Amino acid sequence: MIGEISIRWAEPADYPLALRIWQKVYGADVFPEERMTPLAFHRFVIGFVGEVAGFAAIVCDYPTFWRGQVVPCAGIGAVATLPEFRGGGIGQQMMDGVVGLCREAGSEISSLYGFREPFYRKSGYEACGWRWQIRCPVDQLPKVGGDLVVREIDPADVRELDDCYRGFARRFNGSCERIEAHWSRRLGKKPPQIYAVGDPVEGYLWCNPHGFWNELEIGEMTWTSARGYENLLGLIRTLAINKGKVSWCEPPESSFARIYLDGLVEMSRHRPSMFAVLDPGALLERLEVDFGKFSFEFEGTTVGMGPRVEISKHQLIQALMGSPNLSEMVRWGEVKGDAGALAYLEMILSPMAVCCMEFF
Ligand SMILES: CC(C)(COP(=O)(O)OP(=O)(O)OC[C@H]1O[C@@H](n2cnc3c(N)ncnc32)[C@H](O)[C@@H]1OP(=O)(O)O)[C@@H](O)C(=O)NCCC(=O)NCCS
Repeated sequence: MIGEISIRWAEPADYPLALRIWQKVYGADVFPEERMTPLAFHRFVIGFVGEVAGFAAIVCDYPTFWRGQVVPCAGIGAVATLPEFRGGGIGQQMMDGVVGLCREAGSEISSLYGFREPFYRKSGYEACGWRWQIRCPVDQLPKVGGDLVVREIDPADVRELDDCYRGFARRFNGSCERIEAHWSRRLGKKPPQIYAVGDPVEGYLWCNPHGFWNELEIGEMTWTSARGYENLLGLIRTLAINKGKVSWCEPPESSFARIYLDGLVEMSRHRPSMFAVLDPGALLERLEVDFGKFSFEFEGTTVGMGPRVEISKHQLIQALMGSPNLSEMVRWGEVKGDAGALAYLEMILSPMAVCCMEFF
């Protein structure tokens, strides 16, 4: 017999309880004592089984690029149930509770990286977006480059990359509009070497270029022009002079896949993300849609006043994010309903790539 389940935003007095759970589940090396204090964009959630703290999670405030706007998004990480409470549905109920807290706090969407998609699907999340991880033998790097000036950026001046990052991330859905704290979390404890091309910056990458014949791992790479991309590839060739392979990530709309594929280059789906819609009405209002042209059911309420469309919340988040897109779902007969309403929604919710650039 398990006690009653409750969940709430953690107060400072709860932080040691949450830390203990993360240390038991993820290890004290991943969650050292200093992680007991939430970062500027973090809020902790703590769940109780009776009187005992048995579940914890971190909610990240990730204002997220979405169809040319920035919408409030809750990124969920560090989801953990203590081993003694697992397997009895507690994790699932707690996740439903986390979604409820985020909705109350005004998040319109939520994102996470699921260890197993079915677990989070039950709480309304659906697979949506990924990164290509490109692994290229050095001698298959394209021989391109350019004459943009290359300069090192001190991690303390990372905000110089803001415009380039924004210009890149606005082209697809699902990435965070970073503030200072997001940048420093993204750079990590031991900041890498950062190189920018162009002034103003048209592209940047960061890496640790040391070692011989090892793999050169590019931590993050973004660009805002075709010229910037070519210059970055040229920079990579010079950094890879004493390496065997190079790896980096690109969004699903990958310039490399479009232009430079070559025999032994591997491209794998990396870090697939999941999203959930918490407030579809608010999102559609942002697009200034005509609510008289469609309607659908969402968690027991009707959104819109027009002819009906049958769409689940899982299909809805994919349609809103644009990937997989609504037209696909209609073409394959998965989403049905009034033809006029579907055509209108297909026009509003056009296909878009989805990619989350944060690690959490
Ligand atoms: C993921 C986690 C939070 C789930 O907590 P929980 O309280 O056990 O969750 P629930 O009991 O509600 O659900 C667990 C689900 O996993 C299933 N499951 C349990 N053990 C499993 C196993 N070895 N293989 C596959 N599925 C398993 C359960 O059957 C259940 O699914 P079901 O409802 O379809 O039967 C918990 O296992 C945990 O803390 N894991 C370690 C940390 C982690 O992986 N976090 C997620 C990071 S994204």
